[in-house]
This record gives sequence, structure tokens and C-alpha cells, in this order.
Amino acid sequence: MAKVNHRSMRLFEDRLTDRQQKFIDEFSILYGKKFESSKKWIEEKRFVYCDWMNALTFKKSIKELIFPIFSKSSKGAHFEDIDGNILTDIAMGYGVNFWGHNPDFVKEAISERLELGLELGPQLKLSAEVAELISELTGVERVAFCNSGTEAVMTAIRIARGKTGKDKIVIFKGSYHGTFDGVLGVGSCENVEPISIGTPDNFVRDLYVLDYGATESLEFIKENAKEIAAVMVEPVQSRNPALRPKEFLQNLREITLNTGVALIFDETITGFRIHPGGAQKYFDVIADLVIYGKALGGGMPISAVAGKDEYMQLLDGGMWQFGDDSMPHDNVIFHAGTYYKHPLSIAAAKASLTEIKKRRNTVYDEMRNNMTYLADSLNSYFKDENIPLRLDYCETMFRFFGLGRYDLTLEPLELDLLFKILIYNNIYTWEKRTCFISDAHTKEDIDKIIASFKKSVETLRNGGFEFIID
Ligand SMILES: Cc1ncc(COP(=O)(O)O)c(C=O)c1O
Repeated sequence: MAKVNHRSMRLFEDRLTDRQQKFIDEFSILYGKKFESSKKWIEEKRFVYCDWMNALTFKKSIKELIFPIFSKSSKGAHFEDIDGNILTDIAMGYGVNFWGHNPDFVKEAISERLELGLELGPQLKLSAEVAELISELTGVERVAFCNSGTEAVMTAIRIARGKTGKDKIVIFKGSYHGTFDGVLGVGSCENVEPISIGTPDNFVRDLYVLDYGATESLEFIKENAKEIAAVMVEPVQSRNPALRPKEFLQNLREITLNTGVALIFDETITGFRIHPGGAQKYFDVIADLVIYGKALGGGMPISAVAGKDEYMQLLDGGMWQFGDDSMPHDNVIFHAGTYYKHPLSIAAAKASLTEIKKRRNTVYDEMRNNMTYLADSLNSYFKDENIPLRLDYCETMFRFFGLGRYDLTLEPLELDLLFKILIYNNIYTWEKRTCFISDAHTKEDIDKIIASFKKSVETLRNGGFEFIID
């Protein structure tokens, strides 16, 4: 039987009225003119430049609008594209740019390190200082570095399996843990299949995919603990930031502790963003292993696997001293990466964490105020105007949800169009629309986002798309 490819593109035609078709045709011309150089560039380079974004949200009916915006430079909450348009960014590097684009203190740290050299092999003293800063802010005992969230997920799972001697991994529906084949499964506790072609069934054979926040999931974990190595949680899912099941997580902690199952918090996004101490502090839960990334590096690629010594020593053999007969043990996993602890990333991480330490008593409140203002303003506008949208958020991470037949999982054309119009109105979101505001977003920026959103909805409706809650 042919396999279902959960990543297959939607190629069928949307049924459009003449008025709607006319609107799309006319808007495509305007959009194509405004972002002319970006459109030309991808058309010219598509053969050699193979980019997954080419297919990510492809829809035949808006084909002329499907091209990436190429940027020239960025600063604060904005970037300039290759046509000279200045856009306010709410994608913020998929959550990387906590401080905004190109913050001065990170730039200085990188420039300083660039002068000194980019040696790999010899260790930078700074790497241990960054480990100490992470430990100080979050409470984790020990820290190891990788380059990406995906690599850190891979390593954490390997540690958990090595420590427990078991193979099964529990993840939750709606979570995202990067692109390691071992977590690219969709399904349930009974049946999991690869999310796309290219991942063999075997790679997801040991996955269980459960409902997040559900009591039945806790029961399942308790009953099957004998074969479960780890439960990996994205504590606040970027795809569902309103779901913050504190009690569930605390119960999960108790169950996993009592049954010898590792609890892994994947804090690639939540780390340092929703609280200086991340989701562990936010939910008052201490995980066995924690993954950090994104905000950690202040814009540079770096991630960390951290956690309790009893788990982390599977990576380095644990403690030993000079001058006696102590030794590292050899119950260790395989862990390596050429660019792990790259000097520029380590320097940027130190700058970013030092800034968090310095400003943690004020910066989170300031950003939360801006976020609340944005969410309250747009949500009351949606309600008053009968617009089928809702903005959900957790601290500075947010996402728009379509209501009723505009449910985002159905990928309605109206929403794709709305976000293209928003980009045309100088507010940039990326294709999957997990959004963030940063320290650099001012009240004026937030006002701009609100005004552009309203203007974009008006334009969509004037184009013959009703876009109302039925
Ligand atoms: C929770 C979570 N885990 C893991 C990853 C993968 O990180 P990376 O893209 O750095 O490999 C992401 C990326 O968005 C993420 O959000």
C-alpha cells in the first residue's frame, strides 16, 4: 500500500469567484513589483539554490506570491530587503533574536573574538564560563555544547537511552523537536509513522506520540514505564503557546522520577525566553536533561544539552581529579561535532547571557507589557470586527489561530493571503508563522503591527474574501 506523505503539498485549485481571482491577480502584480528583486533572484537561482521554502506553503492559486524575501541587512526590530523596503520583523529568526537583530553587545563580542582567531580543537576558556552562566541562570548542574537544537535533541535522547538501557521515547502531539529522524514521527501510542518520505519506519519504531496535557498520557507513561527511556516535552509548544499545563508537567515529573524514566525538557525556544531560568523555573519542575538553543546564542548558532550530573556524566565519564587514582567511567555515549563550541558562537552566547543576568529584573516585564498590549489590541479588534482569528501567546512567543473553517491546520487560502498582504504592508512573518517580539520592538513598532494588521484584513475583505466568523 502506498505510504501517506504527511508533508505532501496542496496542489489542487481553490475555487475562487471572479472578484477574488481579480483581486489575487492585481495584488500579485503589486506584490511582485514591491519585492521585484527578491522574485527575480529566486527565479534566476532556483536551479542551483535548492531551498525547502520553495515548497513549504505552495498553493497553485497564489503561485505568483510564493517566493522568499531576500534581506540585505538588519538592525533592532527591522530588516531591509534587496529592494530597499524596510520591514518590521515578527519572525525574529524563528525565536533566535531575543534582543532584536544585531544587538551592539553581541556584535562587539563577535568582533573582538574575530580579531583573536577562530581556533577549534584548543578550547576557549570562555566555553566553561558560558556553561557556568547557563547553570547560574537555570539551575542545571552540567552543560555540554552543540550547534543546533536538532543535535542537542539527538544527544539528549542518546544519553537517556544510554542511562536507562531502554529504547522507547515519548513525544507529544503538536510539539516540534527539530529534524533528527528519530523524532520525525506522527501518530499515537498505537501507531507511529514517519512524517515524510525519506525517514524509514524503523527510525520512528520506538516513538510514542501522546496528547499533551492529557491525564490518559500520564496513565500510559506509568503503565509502560518499563520500556520508556525518556519523555521529551516542549513545555510550551510554539504551535500552541496558550497550552501551559503546569499540573500535568509536575505530575509527569513525579511519575518519571518514580519509574526511572528520563524527563527531557526541550527548551530550544523557551530557554531564556519565557523566564531567565526557562520553563523549569516557569513551571517549577526540574527536568533530568534540558536542551537550549536559539536565544542562547544572541543570533549565532549554538545549542546546549544540560542537566543533572547523573545523566550528563554519560557524556564525559563524570568527575575525576589529578594526583590520585580516580578515572572517568566508560559508560559513555558517542558525542562529537567539528564546530561545537565555535569561538564566535561562544562569544555571542556569553554576551547574551551576561545581558540577561544584568537586565533580568526589568527586561522580561518590559517585553511582556509590549506583548500583552499587542495581543489585547488585536484580539479585541478580531472580536469587534467578527474576524475569525485569535492571537495566543506565552510571554514573547505568539501565534495566530484561525477559527472555524479558517482553522490553520486546514491551511485556508484566506490566511495565506492575509499574511502575504501583511508582508506587503511591511510586517514580516515567515511561512510557518510562529512569531516573536524582541527587546528591540518598541511601542511604536507594536502600533505599526496593529495598524498593518487592520489594514491587511480590510484589503482582504475588499478583495471579495468575506473572512468572518460564520
Ligand atoms: C522546541 C524545538 N526543538 C528543536 C528545534 C530544532 O532546532 P534547530 O532548528 O536549531 O535544529 C526547534 C527549532 O525550531 C524547536 O523549536
